[in-house]
Amino acid sequence: MKNVLWYYQSQIFGVMDSNNEGVIDMAQLWGGRFTKETDKLVYRFNASIFFDRKFFRQDIEGSIAHVVMLAKQGILTAEEKDAILKGLTGIRQDVEDGKLQITEEYEDIHSFVEAKLTERIGAAGKKLHTGRSRNDQVALDMRLYTRLEVLHVDELVKTLLGTLLQIMEENTETYMPGFTHLQKAQPVTLAHHIGAYFEMFKRDRSRLKDIYHRMNYCPLGAGALAGTTYPLDRNYTASLLGFEGPTLNSMDSVSDRDYVIEFLSALATVMMHLSRFCEEIIIWNSDEYRFVEIDDAYSTGSSIMPQKKNPDIAELVRGKTGRVYGSLVSVLTIMKGIPLAYNKDMQEDKELTFDAIDTVKSCLVLFEGMVRTMKFRRDIMERSAMQGFTNATDAADYLVGKGVPFRDAHSVVGRLVLYCIDRKCSIEDLSLEELKEISPVFEQDVYEAVSLKTCVEKRLTMGAPGPQAMDKVIAMHREYLAKDWQAEDEIHIPE
Ligand code: ARG
Repeated sequence: MKNVLWYYQSQIFGVMDSNNEGVIDMAQLWGGRFTKETDKLVYRFNASIFFDRKFFRQDIEGSIAHVVMLAKQGILTAEEKDAILKGLTGIRQDVEDGKLQITEEYEDIHSFVEAKLTERIGAAGKKLHTGRSRNDQVALDMRLYTRLEVLHVDELVKTLLGTLLQIMEENTETYMPGFTHLQKAQPVTLAHHIGAYFEMFKRDRSRLKDIYHRMNYCPLGAGALAGTTYPLDRNYTASLLGFEGPTLNSMDSVSDRDYVIEFLSALATVMMHLSRFCEEIIIWNSDEYRFVEIDDAYSTGSSIMPQKKNPDIAELVRGKTGRVYGSLVSVLTIMKGIPLAYNKDMQEDKELTFDAIDTVKSCLVLFEGMVRTMKFRRDIMERSAMQGFTNATDAADYLVGKGVPFRDAHSVVGRLVLYCIDRKCSIEDLSLEELKEISPVFEQDVYEAVSLKTCVEKRLTMGAPGPQAMDKVIAMHREYLAKDWQAEDEIHIPE
C-alpha cells in the first residue's frame, strides 16, 4: 500500500518500493563492526554519489598518483601497480565513453571506483586504499576539482575583459553622463564607464590567482586525521599532482575548507560585479534611457504584451547572484562549528560549491555574449550628457580660473543652475549678457570651457575619462591581457 509516508519519502529520496524501502541495493565499504544493515533511508541520506560523481576524474587522477607513490616506496609491487593503473584508466575511459554508468548503489564516488576496480582486476584492487582514508581522499578530490575550476573561471573572466577592452577602444570619445546617486553628475565617456568594470574583473582575476596558489598544496597522505604508519612520500605524490608541496598538518589537511570558502567568496564577488553591471544595463536598456539596445538574441518577449523586449538575461544574472552568495554563506555556516578533524557536515560543501561554479560560469558566458552584441546608442548618450548640468562643476572651475574662490564660484553656478531650471535650458544656452548678470567674471570663452568635449578632454589625470588619459590606460590593459598569469606560472589546464 502506498501511503502518505511513501509519497513523502519517494519525493525526498527518489523512487521507493511499496515497503518503503529504497530500491537501490547498497554496496558499502564497511560492515565488519556492524551487526545490522544500515537503514536504507539512512544509507541514502548519507550517500554523496548523487553529486560527488562530478569529480570522478579527479578521484581517479588522485588514485593514480597514490598508487605510483606506493609502488615507488615498495608498499605495492610493480605488478600490482601496473594492474591497478590499467584498471583505473580503463574505468575512466569507460565512464567517459558512456560504457560504464556511475550508479547509485555506491555510497560515494570513492567506493564506486574501488568496487569497479576490484571487480575488474581482482585482489590487487583491494590494495588501492592502502595508506589512505576517504577523508584525505575527498579533501584531495575537492581540491583538484576546485583548483581546475579556478582556472576555468579565470579564463572566462579573461574573455569578458577582452570584450570590455574592445568596447573601450571604440568609445574613448563617446560622451555620456556619469552618475552619483543615480543623478547626472559629470560627463564621462563610455570607455571610462566600461573601464570601471574592467578594473573590477581584473581584480577578480588577481583574487583567483592568489587563491590558486594558496590552495595548491596536497592533502593526500593525511590519512583519516593522523597521517599513516606507511612510509609514504608525500612530496612525491604532491609533485605528481602538480601541487607546490604537501600540506603540513594532517588534522588541518582533512578538515580545511578555507579554499572552498575563498573560492566561493571570489565567485560571489564576480557575481556582485556582474550584477551591478546588469543593473546598469537594465536601466540603460529601458525606454526612459535607451543608452543601449540588447540584441534580440539575448532578449525575451512577453506572453501578453506584444511590444515587450525584456532584458531577462541581465535580470537572471542579477538574480543568480543571490544564489551564489547563498552558497558562500552556507559553507561559512557549515564550517563555523566543526571541531577538528573530519566531520560529515563537510560533505555539504559539494553541491553548494558545484552549483556556484556552474552558475558563475554560465553567467559569465551569457553576460559576455550579451555585452558583445549589445548596441550602444551613442547619440542618445551624448544628448543625455548635455542635459542635467553635468558641466556645472566645470563652470565653477572656469570661474576659479578667473580668480574667484571655489566656494563663491560654487554658489554663483548654483544660482545659474536655478536660473536655467526656471527657463528649462542648459548653462551653455544662456547669452553672455545673462551670464554676466549673475557674475561679471564670465567671458565669451566660457562656452568653450563648459562644452561637453572640453569637460571630458580636460580631465587628464591618470584614471580620468579624458581620451588621452584613457588611451594610456587602454594600452596598459592591452599589455595586461597579452600576458597571462596561467602561462607565466606554467599552469596548464588539462582537457
Ligand atoms: N562523502 C564524504 C564527503 O564528501 C567523503 C568522506 C567520507 N568520510 C567519512 N569518514 N565518512 O565528505
